[in-house]
Amino acid sequence: MPQRSSLNLLAADPDATGLLGQCLARTLPPPADAARVLTLGGELGAGKTTLARALLRELGVTGTVKSPTYTLVEPYQVAGNDVYHLDLYRLEGADELEALGWRDWLDAAAFLMVEWPERAGPLLLAPDLDCRLTTLGDGRAIALSAATPRGEAWLGRLAASIPVSGHSLRHA
Ligand SMILES: Nc1ncnc2c1ncn2[C@@H]1O[C@H](COP(=O)(O)OP(=O)(O)OP(=O)(O)O)[C@@H](O)[C@H]1O
Ligand SMILES: [Mg+2]
Repeated sequence: MPQRSSLNLLAADPDATGLLGQCLARTLPPPADAARVLTLGGELGAGKTTLARALLRELGVTGTVKSPTYTLVEPYQVAGNDVYHLDLYRLEGADELEALGWRDWLDAAAFLMVEWPERAGPLLLAPDLDCRLTTLGDGRAIALSAATPRGEAWLGRLAASIPVSGHSLRHA
């Protein structure tokens, strides 16, 4: 599978955003020597939680998937590995993240999904993959970029799993 550093998609409706979440889950790299990190960018209401929720469901999370809007983090266990869904919109500063004990989340087998990553400043690890959603008409333009070799391989697998045309989720 060829590596890839960027991918531009169009998601016509919320189901298409969810389908992207499912595709990301199906192509997620296996645990290795460092936590896997996916950042989710975009304005309020861009669709970040919609994507994260579908991804978590596809990984096998059952029960309620709450938005971490107020808790900042919602932890899950998937096949014995830790998965953390963060929403840093309300983060008051780096101290708060330290107080939450975020360094304990960076276990090698962990997977972190981070909404509003820019609120953490330079503190947060460089993501493997960044996914940025922008409103476009009634739908969303979604730009993915890989920042590590593992992210590039992930993006290569992901690109191959997205329909080229004729679907509500497609290549731009
Ligand atoms: N591709 C899409 N086209 C149109 N609407 C979408 C799309 N994806 C998601 N939405 C809708 O956008 C709205 C906001 O979604 P969501 O809560 O996931 O945004 P968010 O980026 O997590 O916002 P916040 O920054 O407040 O956490 C929801 O009503 C959702 O159904
Ligand atoms: Mg959200």
